Formats: sequence, C-alpha cells, structure tokens
Amino acid sequence: MEAFIRSVGAYAPPRRMSNHELAEFVDTSHEWIYSHTGISYRHIAEPDQAASDLAVPAAHRALEAAGMTADELDLVLVATSTPDYIGLPSTACVVQHAIGATSAGAMDVMAVCSGFVYALETARAFVKAGSARHVLVVGTEVYSKIMDWTDRNTCVLFGDGAGAVIVSPQTEEGAKSAVVDSILRSDGSGAESLFRPCGGTRCAYIPGQTPDSELALQMNGRKVYIFAVRAVVDTINEMLKRNNLTFSDIRYFVPHQANRRIIEAAAKRLEIPSEQFYLNMDEYANTSAASIPLALDEMNAKGVLKRGDAVITIGFGAGLTYGANLIVW
Ligand code: UT7
Repeated sequence: MEAFIRSVGAYAPPRRMSNHELAEFVDTSHEWIYSHTGISYRHIAEPDQAASDLAVPAAHRALEAAGMTADELDLVLVATSTPDYIGLPSTACVVQHAIGATSAGAMDVMAVCSGFVYALETARAFVKAGSARHVLVVGTEVYSKIMDWTDRNTCVLFGDGAGAVIVSPQTEEGAKSAVVDSILRSDGSGAESLFRPCGGTRCAYIPGQTPDSELALQMNGRKVYIFAVRAVVDTINEMLKRNNLTFSDIRYFVPHQANRRIIEAAAKRLEIPSEQFYLNMDEYANTSAASIPLALDEMNAKGVLKRGDAVITIGFGAGLTYGANLIVW
C-alpha cells in the first residue's frame, strides 16, 4: 500500500521581525543579511509559546484540510530540535494530547533541519508496513529561544514556525499521489559544527557556572555551508538517478530554507535553473524542521503545487544530517 500526503497545514507566529529591527540591537545590517542569505524577515514566538504551541494550530489546519478528526490518527510524529522539554517528555506527546489524538502513539524524530524529511519517511514506512493508517507529521521549531541574541553569526539566520502533513494509505484507484522514495543520511563527524555545547548530558548545566553562551546554538558557518552545498547536490543527483528521472520531470525542488546562496550554488553545480527551487526564506528565515512543510503549505495555498506534480524535498543540517523525499503531490 502506497502512502501519500493527504493534506498540509502551517502556522507561523504573527510577530514578524525585519532585518532593520534586528540591526537596532545586533551589529549587523539588512544589506549584509539579505545579500549573504536571502533573508529579510523571521517570525518570532511569544515568550509563553513553546514548540507544541506552534505545532497544534498547524496540525489542526492539516486535519481540517484532510476532513479528518484527531481521533482517526494512529501516530503523531513531531520533528523538532527545540522541544518543549529537554529530552522528556517528547513534544509529540504534548501535541497528541492537545489535539485530542486519543488513539495515537506519539514520538519525536530528531534530525534537526532534516527532521521533516526523516519524519515523513518514518510515516511512510509505518503506513506501508500497515502498522499505522493515518499519521500526523509536524515540523515545529522555536529557535528564537535557543539563540544567543548577541551573536550576529547565528541570530540573524533563524526564525520560528510549524508545518504539518497528514500521511495516509493511497486507496483511490489509479491515484498517483505518493511519497515514492526517500534518502536519509548522516555524517556524525560534523556533530560539533552546529550544536548546543551544554545543557545535555555531555556538558550538564551547572547553575552559576555554565556560561549562557554555552547553552545557545553555536555554528561553524563556513563548514556547514560547504557541507550543505554538497549535500543538496549529492542527494538530488542520487534521487534522480535511482528513480530514472531528470530534473525536467520535477515540478519543484523544495529545499530546507537555510540560505539562498547555498541553493544557488547547488543549482549551478547541478545545472538546474534556480527558479525550479521553491524559496521562502525571505519571509521566514531558517525554521529548521519546519521549513519544508511551511514551504509546502505556502505552495499548496498559492496553487503552485497541484495533484500529480513531482516534488523533491531536500533537508540538511546539524548532525550532520541530510536527505530527501521524492513526492508525487
Ligand atoms: O540549517 C543549516 C543551518 N546553517 C546554515 O545554513 C549556515 C551555513 N553557512 C552560511 O550560510 C554562511 O556561512 C553564513 C551566512 C553563516 C556566513 O556567510 P559567509 O559569507 O560565510 O560569511 P563569513 O562567516 O565568512 O563572514 C564574513 C564577514 C566576517 O567579517 P570579516 O571577518 O570578514 O571582517 C564576519 O564577521 O561577515 C561578518 N559577519 C557579519 N557581518 C554583518 C558575519 N555575520 C554577520 C552579520 N552581519 N550578521
């Protein structure tokens, strides 16, 4: 039984911060941020909004678009690297309860910016195996709460948001919509290229001793940039090759929305027109696991994605993780 994306929904907190506003309290400028990343705005969660608070409205919208109620779900998967709680309980359990998915199991999928790609493949595997029928997959992030807002190398890049899809078995006769194939990869040698040094069990938080900067996200931007371009090129090449496709068979490539320059560099190497990559980091910045479903929702709402279109999503980020899904919408 094939699994397909039955519906999509998203939610971004209304508070919208421009580069100009950011430049009032960080040593940066709109010109630098936009020219180096393609980002103009990011949405910022309210102080009392956690990852699950963004996930819940996104989930409700996906359920509504599917014409389903939460009690029909068998599994809730939440991809997040900014969970409500450190380690336990999972954010998925909080979401499961909040939406009333009373018959569902729930777990988080942690692959940072590749989280949605990993979680979508997990949902597909459950549906194909017959272990679940309807699976809610949510990517949700509140990076504004793990940033060092004095570090211009990182705080200008990220934003908050959530996107959700419902994955169900394809039962309609002759329907083509499916999650066709996925690639999931990891290179843990780069674990400390993009990480939060302390607060976990490697470097536990000690009150009064652990510097605040060690609890925030840190990144070797150059190293991650080089990795990201290669990851996008390699996963697209492999996905096309193993499915006997060329880039002209794909309606849109939907990459993780980290940086426009990463995508332009990869597109050039792949000799794919950069217009075939759907980009919306201008509005949302890098929302990690939420960036791909936020883009899918926007594309769906604008009517740029139609049933039967072939789409390749590409995730890359901390881990280092990378991967892709080939989807017939
Ligand atoms: O989900 C994956 C997440 N990670 C990423 O996507 C990050 C991948 N890396 C990148 O996108 C790029 O490396 C960055 C956008 C982070 C940085 O761009 P870059 O062209 O590699 O800049 P750089 O780090 O080489 O810095 C160039 C200059 C430096 O000044 P000097 O030393 O040349 O005087 C930086 O201090 O730009 C300076 N700089 C800034 N200036 C104004 C760095 N950040 C800023 C800033 N505003 N926000």
